[in-house]
Amino acid sequence: MGFFQKKRERKDRVMPRHIAIIMDGNGRWAKKRSLPRSAGHSAGARNFKDIARYCNKIGLEYLTVYAFSTENWKRPKAEVDHILNLLRDYLKDAKNFKDENIAVKFIGNISVLPQDIIDLIKDAEINSQNATGLKLNIALNYGGRDEIINAVKKTVEDVQSGKIAYSDINEEYFASNLYTLGIPDPDIIIRPSGEYRLSNFLIWQSAYSEFWFSNVLWPDFKPKHLEMAIDEYNKRERRFGGI
Ligand code: FPP
Repeated sequence: MGFFQKKRERKDRVMPRHIAIIMDGNGRWAKKRSLPRSAGHSAGARNFKDIARYCNKIGLEYLTVYAFSTENWKRPKAEVDHILNLLRDYLKDAKNFKDENIAVKFIGNISVLPQDIIDLIKDAEINSQNATGLKLNIALNYGGRDEIINAVKKTVEDVQSGKIAYSDINEEYFASNLYTLGIPDPDIIIRPSGEYRLSNFLIWQSAYSEFWFSNVLWPDFKPKHLEMAIDEYNKRERRFGGI
């Protein structure tokens, strides 16, 4: 279905199906206020909850957020621990998903995280899997290159075990071995905080995504900024390589 066809159906505007956000700028937000970086992450986590709730309210189907990258382990241990604690608090508060009717899923290499977090993640995923509202994907210990290497390994195993033939490897099959199995590619990727790069986020999936950047730091990113991104998305003509 073409872009303009969809536009006519929805009358006022086209809602992207899937929005992905790089939640950047927590550290600078804290620094500007002479607060420790941890305070920036706490504010970022609160904002994440507000934005997820807003996305659910406006009927967005998929939201994916970058919470922790495979590279973020390089940060001081106290900062890493603080981010993991914010995540623990969020996961323990099951009503974040239940009352909101949000289905949560984690993408990334979860297996190396502390066992209590792994257990909380599994519980949250299972308990929310039948929710009919927003599908919220949280990228945790996620790296696009790591994800691709993983998918290469799985694909090689599938060939070696005879599950598929070498000649059957195609984009669709390969993508089914990514963490994002079953999730459509993001229509728009938002990066606040004045940085203009992807930082290893959804590098396979973003092949045809639109990008929207803003100088606002993540804790200051409000629903109005999300609306600006959706409005801008409506002005873009997506051709997917066609004419
Ligand atoms: C980038 O800002 C942000 C992170 C590396 C962490 C993002 C984490 C959260 C928003 C909390 C996650 C919590 C839940 C519940 C999902 P930065 O520290 O790189 O900012 P800077 O570039 O200004 O230093």
